[in-house]
Amino acid sequence: MSKINIILDCDPGHDDAIALLLSCYSDKLNLLAVTTSSGNQTIEKTSKNALNLLNFFNKNVPLAKGSPTPLKRKVMICPEIHGESGLDGFIFPNYEEKYDSREGYQLIIDTLLSNEHVTVVTTGPMTNLAKAILHNREILKHIDEIVLMGGSTGKGNITEYSEFNILVDPEAADICFKSGVPLRMLGLNVTRKILVREKIVEEASKINTKGSDLFVKLMKVFNENQRSFFSLEAGPLHDPATIISLIDPTVFTFEDMLVEIDTSESEKAGQTRCKKSTITNCKVATSVDIDKYWEIIFDHLRRCK
Ligand code: RIB
Ligand code: CA
Repeated sequence: MSKINIILDCDPGHDDAIALLLSCYSDKLNLLAVTTSSGNQTIEKTSKNALNLLNFFNKNVPLAKGSPTPLKRKVMICPEIHGESGLDGFIFPNYEEKYDSREGYQLIIDTLLSNEHVTVVTTGPMTNLAKAILHNREILKHIDEIVLMGGSTGKGNITEYSEFNILVDPEAADICFKSGVPLRMLGLNVTRKILVREKIVEEASKINTKGSDLFVKLMKVFNENQRSFFSLEAGPLHDPATIISLIDPTVFTFEDMLVEIDTSESEKAGQTRCKKSTITNCKVATSVDIDKYWEIIFDHLRRCK
């Protein structure tokens, strides 16, 4: 079975970090490039975190900083959950700061044009992918699928209606959802069921690799912040759902739906309206096998030596 080519566009971010680990250590995926978005923290901080993580994973792939702002709206960050650094809880060695000279959207364009088949994974606001589409629609025929963590078939997390990644840049999400490229949406309706409970952290701590050490230290801070900000019993590990859906699609069930993005200035801005329809654009995750999810996470923590 040939590997799936992926580009990961992310805003690390504690859960993005684990999605990146899976991308680097899976033998089913070929990580072609990483781009960063302004989301959990500013572009400078999410980019620095992505650089630290790629060095920590000894993964040599192009990394480009993405757009410092959403397409139209103001920057919105989330230090309450991810801390001042955007990845509080783990101290990395001092790595050389080396980024690709292109902006994120240009690296996405160039990577797509030089590969026939690529799956683009976004785990933050979709600004970079939208900018790439706006600059060069030729790329669309090179994208087999857009797999995103974002949205929800039900309630949001930042507002009653909207999930963070979509709310930060609804216009960008709208461009992606209307691009004609098939989408696969891992939304809060499934990801909020995937909680990093104490027993998960304990089990991870017994793995004794550098990957499990990173996981345990990051999740302790992530959980503390999720408890105090969202009064959740533990943090939902949202972003790895995208990568796990590629590693083993049977972990989730999906329903074909028509998903439309609310780009108004109303209280519903950023809502993902998911409807059953004869015309569909998105496979929407509707359930998750939580035991399988954690099995895959632990398997990849073991590989990160
Ligand atoms: O709403 C959850 C999403 O927002 C996750 O991707 C998290 O990392 C933040 O970006
Ligand atoms: Ca994220």
